[in-house]
Amino acid sequence: MKKEELVKKALESRKYSYAPYSKFRVGAAIECKDGTVYTGCNVENAAYGPSNCAERTAIFKAVSEGKRSFTQIAIAGGYEEGMEVSGYATPCGVCRQVMMEFCEPENFVILVAKSETDYKEFTLKELMPEGFGAANL
Ligand code: THU
Repeated sequence: MKKEELVKKALESRKYSYAPYSKFRVGAAIECKDGTVYTGCNVENAAYGPSNCAERTAIFKAVSEGKRSFTQIAIAGGYEEGMEVSGYATPCGVCRQVMMEFCEPENFVILVAKSETDYKEFTLKELMPEGFGAANL
């Protein structure tokens, strides 16, 4: 899938974000090796701790439906709904660790988007150098 298409899906998923506490709305879309796409948003909680990031929502949705191989993920996060997001929302450390479980660090691409045409591209290896994964056990 074209990067711009995946970014568009991440931007669209922001509309489902449940972020009444931080007001920081995040959407994500992950492409599986078979070409299917799973989307996710951040889901917050009054107790704060149980909140879940958009990336993990998308990954857990995919894994819970039998998908374990991924090519790329797009992420879009920011304060304004329906407007171009203000900054690049790179994945938190917990989400990077979850990506380490299922994604090949040197091949998995992370697109961090402000808009459909304005995004930065990283590999998981770049965002998680010397990361710990199943290979280290
Ligand atoms: N968040 C994400 O969903 N993904 C990120 O990459 C960064 C942070 C969420 C968690 C929380 O609901 C809100 O954004 C503010 O941290």
